[in-house]
Amino acid sequence: MRKAVIPAAGLGTRFLPATKAMPKEMLPLIDRPAIQYVVEEAVRAGLTDILMITGRSKRALEDHFDREPFLEDTLEAKGDYAKLAAVRQSSTLADIHYLRQGDPAGLGHAVLRARKHIGNEPFAVLLGDDLIDEQDGILDEMTRLQELTGGSVIALMEVEPSQISAYGCADALPAPGGHLQVRRLVEKPGAAAAPSNLAVIGRYVLHPRIFDVLAQTPPGQGGEIQLTDALQTLATADGPGSGVFGVVFRGRRFDTGDKLSYLKAVLTLALEHQDLGAGMRDWLDGIMAPSLP
Ligand code: G1P
Repeated sequence: MRKAVIPAAGLGTRFLPATKAMPKEMLPLIDRPAIQYVVEEAVRAGLTDILMITGRSKRALEDHFDREPFLEDTLEAKGDYAKLAAVRQSSTLADIHYLRQGDPAGLGHAVLRARKHIGNEPFAVLLGDDLIDEQDGILDEMTRLQELTGGSVIALMEVEPSQISAYGCADALPAPGGHLQVRRLVEKPGAAAAPSNLAVIGRYVLHPRIFDVLAQTPPGQGGEIQLTDALQTLATADGPGSGVFGVVFRGRRFDTGDKLSYLKAVLTLALEHQDLGAGMRDWLDGIMAPSLP
């Protein structure tokens, strides 16, 4: 598998007004925009052909992963080679292609737009809002399971029952090898209707048959074409490319599209940062210490 799709067309309304003139994917985590962490994760998994599904006012994404000759020349002239390397790194990570979504008709629609680029091979989908801790990479395991089963693979995470309505939810049975076989998927169910507390998180390894199914999938939750609904169809289908399997993720994941989760991601990265960690810990210890009477 070589190809990954990164849907990045969402408006980022949860972060307004910060995202009025800037894509939400460019919000920084320390010194890299959130989207760069996602691209780096794909590259670590060997996915060097990346298609980003973008939209209006997402130009900054293309600029970020492009060369910046003026800035590079200036840094070079100053002899600031560390910054020069950091600036160049994002332009050499992968072969990044861009396609505009056009209609904002949902995640399923965004993935369907990738059909021509992907062709007839399995591919990964990484949602730009989901930040998966570098040490807890899950794509390799998902790719192996896709190769083994010939179906599609989703990443699942146990969440508090009160949180499940923010996610796709899976009804799944244990399968050989410690994985799960998905029987049913529901997009953003109410707590009472949820078949489990297993939430779909934003990493997928999909069989290309998903495109035929997406093309036939009517709008679902929120009036949008849902990837979850197409996967539900594949979970109960027969023949080549059918079947949906789950890998349970137990590592650290942040939703950088959510303010509290974004702040937790920044703080976690800062605490573990080589240069910033100690200072951050001292400061936190200070503000958390009970004040003297
Ligand atoms: C999307 C998917 C949902 C999944 C979630 C993970 O929802 O539709 O099934 O659980 O990503 O982040 P969104 O968060 O885009 O509304």
